[in-house]
Amino acid sequence: MSFRTSPKLSAPLEQGGPPAEYVEDVSPGSGALPPRAWYASSDARSLSLNGSWRFRLSATIDAEDDSFAEEGYEAGGWAEVTVPGHWVLQGDGAFGSPIYTNHLYPFPVDPPHVPTENPTGDHLRAFDLPSDWPSDGGAVLRFDGVESCARVWLNGTELGEFKGSRLPHEFAVGHLLKPGENVLAVRVHQWSAGSYLEDQDQWWLPGIFRDVTLLHRPAGSVGDFFVHASYDHTTGEGTLRVDSDVDGRVTVPALDIDVATGESVTVAVEPWTAETPRLYDGVLATEGERVPLRIGFRTVVLEDGLIKVNGRAVLFKGVNRHEWHPEQGRALDLETMREDVLLMKRHNLNAVRTSHYPPHPAFLDLCDEYGLWVIDECDLETHGFTEQDWRDNPVDDDRWTPALLDRAARMVERDKNHPSIVFWSLGNEAGTGRGLTAMAEWIHDRDPDRLVHYEGDWNCRDTDVYSRMYAFHDEVDKIGQRLDGGTHKRRELPFIQCEYGHAMGNGPGGLADYQELFEKYERLQGGFIWEWIDHGVKHPELGYAYGGDFGEELHDGNFVCDGLVFPDRTPSPGLVEYKKVIEPVHIEGDGANGIVRITNKQDFADLSALAFEWSCQVDGETVESGSLSVPALAPGESAEVKLPEPPVDGRGGERQWTVRALLADDTLWAAKDHVVAWGQFAAGARPLPSFPATDRPVRDGDRFTLGPAAFDARTGALLSIGDVEVSAPRLDVWRAPTDNDDGAEWQTDTRYGMLWRTLGLHRMRHRLVAVEAGDDALTVRTRVAPAAREVGLDTVYRWTSDGERLKLTVSVTPEGDWTVPLPRLGVRFGLPEADGVEWFGGGPGEAYPDTRTASMVGRWQSTVDRLQTPYLRPQENGARADVRWVELGGLRIEGDPEFWFTARRWTTEQLDAARHRTDLTPGDTVWVNLDHGQHGIGSQSCGPGPLPQYFLKAEPAEFAFVFSTTR
Ligand code: GAL
Repeated sequence: MSFRTSPKLSAPLEQGGPPAEYVEDVSPGSGALPPRAWYASSDARSLSLNGSWRFRLSATIDAEDDSFAEEGYEAGGWAEVTVPGHWVLQGDGAFGSPIYTNHLYPFPVDPPHVPTENPTGDHLRAFDLPSDWPSDGGAVLRFDGVESCARVWLNGTELGEFKGSRLPHEFAVGHLLKPGENVLAVRVHQWSAGSYLEDQDQWWLPGIFRDVTLLHRPAGSVGDFFVHASYDHTTGEGTLRVDSDVDGRVTVPALDIDVATGESVTVAVEPWTAETPRLYDGVLATEGERVPLRIGFRTVVLEDGLIKVNGRAVLFKGVNRHEWHPEQGRALDLETMREDVLLMKRHNLNAVRTSHYPPHPAFLDLCDEYGLWVIDECDLETHGFTEQDWRDNPVDDDRWTPALLDRAARMVERDKNHPSIVFWSLGNEAGTGRGLTAMAEWIHDRDPDRLVHYEGDWNCRDTDVYSRMYAFHDEVDKIGQRLDGGTHKRRELPFIQCEYGHAMGNGPGGLADYQELFEKYERLQGGFIWEWIDHGVKHPELGYAYGGDFGEELHDGNFVCDGLVFPDRTPSPGLVEYKKVIEPVHIEGDGANGIVRITNKQDFADLSALAFEWSCQVDGETVESGSLSVPALAPGESAEVKLPEPPVDGRGGERQWTVRALLADDTLWAAKDHVVAWGQFAAGARPLPSFPATDRPVRDGDRFTLGPAAFDARTGALLSIGDVEVSAPRLDVWRAPTDNDDGAEWQTDTRYGMLWRTLGLHRMRHRLVAVEAGDDALTVRTRVAPAAREVGLDTVYRWTSDGERLKLTVSVTPEGDWTVPLPRLGVRFGLPEADGVEWFGGGPGEAYPDTRTASMVGRWQSTVDRLQTPYLRPQENGARADVRWVELGGLRIEGDPEFWFTARRWTTEQLDAARHRTDLTPGDTVWVNLDHGQHGIGSQSCGPGPLPQYFLKAEPAEFAFVFSTTR
């Protein structure tokens, strides 16, 4: 099937003639074998063709003819690229550069046509067929992923062409193989009709980016097979049937199974779940081949309006995972995939949506093995058509339906034997249309034992779950209560958020509030954070590049950096927060009565894999600890456990309990003692710092002295405390707006980052009203306000001392009509030097009002440099919550009440101006913020802003700090 060639492209081109038709043909391609299960044979030979390939890049598809594919072609002068790989990430810029757009097509929307400037990479790989390569049977050449369209020749004979970048394509090549040297030629085009179906929010990265493998296919070898392994939770039995194109036997030694293919057998088994990923090793043996099987018995159904696995409703604590490596792009090696899975398991995640295409199949093996529920999503997105109200959308145009069905089939056939997959997803953000319905029908028919997902289908015409992205808390609450209306079918369905909690920059905030809803209403079966990893590209000058850094004419900036881990896979504070929010055990305490309440929040496993430990802290220091005996509670069960008598300690400081749940033994994904969950609760109130104001300010020339401090007599500015010189503390309300403060431009709700700047909160002026030396205090009165506005903050600094310590009490009274919350409220001052930092308060990582669940009260040590969270686009970061006291730069600062503490080697203004980490260079001063309040973070870069309870309202406030020197 092909469209008429448009007059534009059928006219002779300067480069020499019209483009090859297959590139703009909407059909999936020609010459490839039908899709089938992906597996590694136990005994059939294979030859990896990964490695260094000869490479020639052309600016258009017809700049060079295809004679390079002919036998004997001399490519000695060509460059080289590594396969798997993307050519734009190789050759130090000589092969073009990546392009990042969110939903806009980086070419005119003129389907199925693509630009004449269509980078085309000719690839050549000569390989020796091993001398002992079997001569019987056939051979198959498999491409696991090529973006976006490839034409293939072996030894001069054309095999065919294909599209569907993240899907496998196989060609029969046995008849073409020769002893000795063989030459594989592949022409890859960056743009094709297929690009219209691959408009995912990510970098456009052409190339042969997954493995290329030659597979021997012995006579009588396995073709395609489908493992059906269900679990009956009422009997504890599993039923296995392996359908195979080629007859054979299936053995599972641990279960004494030895049956013919196509035959069912039912035996007692341990089921597979993400919490208990029990796999049974088996073998499918046909006359010509043995294929290892990893069988997980589980049954997925939609029942009582719920997604149930093995008879129980599941709560997804998931994440959206794009494949990403900062140097390799989407060409991931096994260790990187394993790192993702390990990090997910260690952070309590139980589910992955493979946004927005099927991942490398090895990733799914890991999900089976380590235990993660998977929504496997098809390689389909046509989001750019939204710009024209979805007119000409391929998913609603029958001419494209074969391509859509081909994509669905290539996903399902390749991945159908993974127990971890519970949902097939039709794709992402492709509007609605007949093509999607056709895909859903085909999938339901081919695999009735799994459910179908697609977010764009709000009426749930084709799907088995009502799925949404970025629904606000109040709407989710309504959906939970089934008050959201909708079609009859939708009202019967469970709900998931396939994307929420947009992890761009600092955040996401509000996760705990979502989780509370998910746990409250049965209909809500959890969600998937957007997204796993920042897609920063390693860059010699910028550290990590994002959209626009390669001079793209259209781009979406750092919207591509919205992950729970940084590009190098260091967990961001967002992941640490998520781990705490979704922990599988809930630990609450009643410190006064010494009781802890433990709840098993898992869906399948009891608590026998965990050991519990209590500890008691005085002023953040552990004075006693021991193990806590907790019954092996079943899922959903709770128990109250008595804590030991609190230790006797004469110091009379602040006391608290901490209870932790640890792995009792080593597991596949973490070692014994790995902390899975924790709870903390006070055993007594915090004694607040106080002292009698016994000293009086004394005038000495142009200075005042008060206790250990000296002040400028004219301005009242603090100059030093003991021998520590300071840049005087002043009221500070500005923070470098986060991506979530700025919000996305399409957001209709108020975006405070913008309003703050418009109001001028980044350029507040401080007018001195009075400096008053009283009997027991030095009082400095000011008014803090931005130019051009009538609003202001009447600010009084009151300094007192007992001779040794110095107390600053700040009183703030807003004046005028404040219609926006404040970014922060506190004081900022400078220290000439500071490096090590110790504090008693929340830590070890950063926290903000709606991202503070994981902030654990204790004694923490760090350095000024390590306090920074290196968001790819610099922005407010690094605050520590609930700080009782902090020591740095020769000072000890105690808070009344607790405060938010931040220190950095640059000013907020410099942080605000920076575009990349590398724009930030340390200055001579360490700037310290002591905040009484911070505004919430929210998720408005693609979702709701902070909930009202996390707003920092402009209201009268009073707060104090006690300073003393430590040297
Ligand atoms: C969604 C989309 C994702 C990503 C996200 C924002 O609409 O499905 O691919 O673009 O928004 O980061």
